[in-house]
Amino acid sequence: MYNEKGDHSIQVCFSPLSWPLFEKEDALVIVTDIFRATTAICAALHNKVKAIIPVETIRESEHWKAKGYVSAGERDGVTLHGADFGNSPFNFMAPALQGKTIAMNTTNGTRAIKMAAAGNNLVVIGAFSNLSAVCAYAVRIRKEIIILCAGWKDRFSMEDSLFAGAATEKIIELGAGAFHTVCDSAIASAGLWQQAKDDPLTYIEKAAHRHRLKRLGLDDILEYSLTRDSTNVVPILKGDRLVAADHR
Ligand code: MLT
Repeated sequence: MYNEKGDHSIQVCFSPLSWPLFEKEDALVIVTDIFRATTAICAALHNKVKAIIPVETIRESEHWKAKGYVSAGERDGVTLHGADFGNSPFNFMAPALQGKTIAMNTTNGTRAIKMAAAGNNLVVIGAFSNLSAVCAYAVRIRKEIIILCAGWKDRFSMEDSLFAGAATEKIIELGAGAFHTVCDSAIASAGLWQQAKDDPLTYIEKAAHRHRLKRLGLDDILEYSLTRDSTNVVPILKGDRLVAADHR
């Protein structure tokens, strides 16, 4: 996996706390929060939701709701007070949401998206559900790549790191020599993915957020969230909102 050849680098940032060490101008940032924010965003745009506005504070959520937008989100897994629904990807699949714009506010995911958006980077959303599509997009764009794991309250997260490893492996494979990595966290996450890839559902039993969701009765999303390539949608940040990239 360690490879100095290839014009464009891949790095993995395991925690928003480390983001200042990785932040660049003009990179492609793939933000991931597998349980559940980025899986939910991909599900929403696949379901033809028009856009997702990532928000960080309760006040912002209230602002968008007062303007007539659908409001979604959670804190510590539990549906955000005043929101129309929580953060399960399944909530975003309702036909009634097609064409709507949703303001989404989550504990870690939307905060990481806002962080990545602060520079001059191109920001896209990655999940196992769009793994091949987002990696193919990254290869076509040919920029330096940083995979930003939303983690859990600034801590390392197993499921986000597994995605980072799967994406690093896939981009190097699809890039056919155009990408390299000398980043220890990219190499470590690819090693973790090697251990998990044959049976991610069993492997994820080790993950803290898997058990947090179980305690809350919200773990019906595990299999869906760990299944690869159920959509071709690549959510991309345009201004203050995420829309489906026109990439096909
Ligand atoms: C987050 O942003 O922290 C999450 O996606 C949490 C969740 O929905 O369980």
